[in-house]
Amino acid sequence: MDAISVIRTKRDRGELTPEQIDWVIDAYTRGEVADEQMSALAMAILLNGMNRTEIARWTAAMIASGERMNFDALSRPTTDKHSTGGVGDKITLPLAPLVAACGAAVPQLSGRGLGHTGGTLDKLESIPGWRAHLSNAEMLNVLDTTGAVICAAGDGLAPADKKLYALRDVTGTVEAIPLIASSIMSKKIAEGTGALVLDVKVGSGAFMKTIEDARELASTMVALGTDSGVRTVALLTDMSTPLGLTAGNALEVRESVDVLAGGGPQDVIDLTLALAREMLDAAGLKDADPEKALADGSAMDVWRRMISAQGGDPDATLPVAREQHVVRAMSSGILTRLDAYDIGVAAWRLGAGRARKEDPVQAGAGIELHAKPGDEVTAGQPLLTLHTDTPEKFDYALKALPDSYDIAPVGTPFAATPVVRERIA
Ligand code: URA
Repeated sequence: MDAISVIRTKRDRGELTPEQIDWVIDAYTRGEVADEQMSALAMAILLNGMNRTEIARWTAAMIASGERMNFDALSRPTTDKHSTGGVGDKITLPLAPLVAACGAAVPQLSGRGLGHTGGTLDKLESIPGWRAHLSNAEMLNVLDTTGAVICAAGDGLAPADKKLYALRDVTGTVEAIPLIASSIMSKKIAEGTGALVLDVKVGSGAFMKTIEDARELASTMVALGTDSGVRTVALLTDMSTPLGLTAGNALEVRESVDVLAGGGPQDVIDLTLALAREMLDAAGLKDADPEKALADGSAMDVWRRMISAQGGDPDATLPVAREQHVVRAMSSGILTRLDAYDIGVAAWRLGAGRARKEDPVQAGAGIELHAKPGDEVTAGQPLLTLHTDTPEKFDYALKALPDSYDIAPVGTPFAATPVVRERIA
């Protein structure tokens, strides 16, 4: 077997054989296939696709590149959620403790933000003392004692994906449905969860810009999970505008704690509850009542225990950026659009995100929204507050925003996009 013949097969729109797939994933993980060869293959896959049989084999080969975790010793059923990534998507933070408070175990292996989308680990690291990196034994202990753990995936889990994802990120090959589906599902299947709910984002701030692409990605992942014995469901959810009223690490932690305390923006509450119901249902806990667990403080209790168990201080003051800049509404009327992608790029430029994996992020940087689509605004009122420790970044961030919103005259019909658009099982 050699890399060039595998690349040629896909370049010429052929179907990769199981042997070709197993070999190329294994050889790439071992360093025998070079980055430039894998880039060429990834681009051929982006351009020419893979069928379901190829995707299933590719996923299995990535799982086989590393270890598989096992939660059979736990007394509770395991259930997990994965989002394909968005702007202001802090849902994991209130969701994991909420579902744990309802009786499930939530092993949430999360990632860092890259590009305009935020990462759960970056958000939680704004809590003083909190540690993302746990050994497998520590992870199991936090899960067993608190019901939920949010941490970085260990190096042993799907190492082929770690390498390939980093390569795709710098070769313009992230947005290939077969590669996204196999990347996400290899990690989730190797993680060993019994049930999985996929939050497939659709809209300007998501990788999938159209509902058709989101459907295709969701149904591919649901089939991969189901065929591997993981009860898998997907919700297609709106990412045309940011979730909630914040995008940025500490800002999003604060908003998540508001939700756990019984407040917070309605769209964040609605999506948290919708995903919690799906996760509990998939775990067989059909009588659980997540609304009650949010209202009676039991989800907050799990949050506090979970943060403390990973070295964090749930009572610590969160970092605040040194400088603020207010963007004001240019006219009066109904805010009909506030673009998720533009807000995500601006937050990233303010220091909330990173350009390269090794870059640091600013805990306090990001954007607060003072209105959401459907709200009435008046000319001159604050629309956004930009936060950063490095004010020289304001100009660069503002350049992402000139076309980021529309205001229509009062009385213009406005149909809000529902947060949950479709369900695929
Ligand atoms: N998240 C992943 O883990 N992988 C992808 O390819 C895209 C989003």
